[in-house]
Amino acid sequence: MNQEELFKNIISHSKEYGFVFQSSEIYDGLSAVYDYGQMGVELKKNLRDFWWKSMVQMHQNIVGLDTAIFMHPTTWKASGHVDAFNDPLIDNKDSKKRYRADVLIEDHMSKIIAKADKEVEKAKARFGETFDETLYRQTNPRVLEYLGKASAIENRFKAALEANNLEEVRQIIIDCEIVCPISGTKNWTEVRQFNLMFSTSMGSVTEDAGTIYLRPETAQGIFVNFLNVQKTGRMKIPFGIAQTGKAFRNEIVARQFIFRMREFEQMEMQFFVRPGTEMEWYNYWKDMRMKWHQALGFGDKKHRFHDHLKLAHYANAAADIEFDFPFGFKELEGIHSRTDFDLKKHEEFSGKKLQYFDSELNQSYVPYVVETSIGLDRLFLAVMSEAYKEETLEDGSSRVVLAIPFPLAPVKVAILPLVNKDGLAEKSEEIVNLLKYDFNVATEAKDAIGKRYRRNDAIGTPYCVTVDYETMENNTVTLRNRDTMAQERIKIEDLRQILEKSLSMTTLLEKC
Ligand code: GAP
Repeated sequence: MNQEELFKNIISHSKEYGFVFQSSEIYDGLSAVYDYGQMGVELKKNLRDFWWKSMVQMHQNIVGLDTAIFMHPTTWKASGHVDAFNDPLIDNKDSKKRYRADVLIEDHMSKIIAKADKEVEKAKARFGETFDETLYRQTNPRVLEYLGKASAIENRFKAALEANNLEEVRQIIIDCEIVCPISGTKNWTEVRQFNLMFSTSMGSVTEDAGTIYLRPETAQGIFVNFLNVQKTGRMKIPFGIAQTGKAFRNEIVARQFIFRMREFEQMEMQFFVRPGTEMEWYNYWKDMRMKWHQALGFGDKKHRFHDHLKLAHYANAAADIEFDFPFGFKELEGIHSRTDFDLKKHEEFSGKKLQYFDSELNQSYVPYVVETSIGLDRLFLAVMSEAYKEETLEDGSSRVVLAIPFPLAPVKVAILPLVNKDGLAEKSEEIVNLLKYDFNVATEAKDAIGKRYRRNDAIGTPYCVTVDYETMENNTVTLRNRDTMAQERIKIEDLRQILEKSLSMTTLLEKC
């Protein structure tokens, strides 16, 4: 199965088992907008909880917040989003398809770098253990040629973006001979900037209706409440404010399922620090966030850092944590050193002071901010991509299993009466009542037991508990592990304690 097939299978599996549906599907859907089904909502909640616990509960100097989606329109003027929250877009005249010019160029560079990596992999296989990768990368003429080519494009592209020279961006696309993936031609329009904010109006039409925006990031709700939280929470710098919530962007090029959506959820934390210490905290949060991703146990090859070529209007340093999705390495989370840009702008536009009195320095200042910002939907897709597995079993049969980390699985335990008679269903109900306070449990009695195991594998249920005739005699059940498929006989009274060990979120949090 190639990566494209894998991605298609993940999308159809997500629908078939109630994880993700297209929004308003009965009306043929709404492009780049999705709904989470009965399984999806549980997985999404568990991912959100994992983030919240690790950021808020595990840090004594970080507190939570939940601000409104609608904000005073001046917020977005001050933050720079009205004037500068744009994507450079280009159209192919033959296919009539629209692309982000920066993505076309970055994908082209990735392909060149992938060629260099392939050369290195080939050499590694040839030379075995004696292979010195660093030396090879520094000396092999072909690798150097590829990397040099990519770096030349990168420098040219960076200069064009910094000068906001859209003609030059187009010229790079022409010079690199980038073709439209649909038509295969180089028949490109000019590059134009497009603002990504959705707007609506507040108040009735007859009244003086004002234009307001649907927030494109949750961060601004934190900035405008900076002093409210600092004062009422008696917070001392350095401290953080975290929030999760919906954000909206009128993405023109919205593809790849829930990777790029028009309505999505962010999990953001703004960390307020003393000016001059921001790079120290920026590096700290880069490390912490990478550790958090690695705690999911997908291996150290699935994530990598990517430093930003062009810094956003508010940042003095920025990096992405990229994940190896089925369609390649793409941004999953951003870590940004936002300077004092946002607070200073809000001071300027509101006329209110947003300063912190540092008693150690005996001085007031506008704090600097380091931000961590992750898309919950992208994290969901990363987990689904890694978890989805099609396996051939020893007896020649096959199964699809979602190997979601146990503490994050939508349903933790399925209680399955072998038959729906002779009191087995009632006994199952008793076990549900025993476990339901601690775990999300489900029970199902229909179909052969093998079929029920498969169904639970497909939604990622870590454990199946089977209630049989022996249960009625000695109060024991079989406990089946999703990944090993091994079954053991255990006492009902021991169930809770055994399950707690591997299902508790603590097992993940301890690795962060
Ligand atoms: N407050 C900073 C900020 O919003 P960003 O890099 O634009 O930074 C942060 O967005 C994260 O939000 C991204 O790393 C990504 O995971 C997620 N995200 C951004 N746009 C998205 C979209 N259209 N669909 C899904 N997730 C998105």
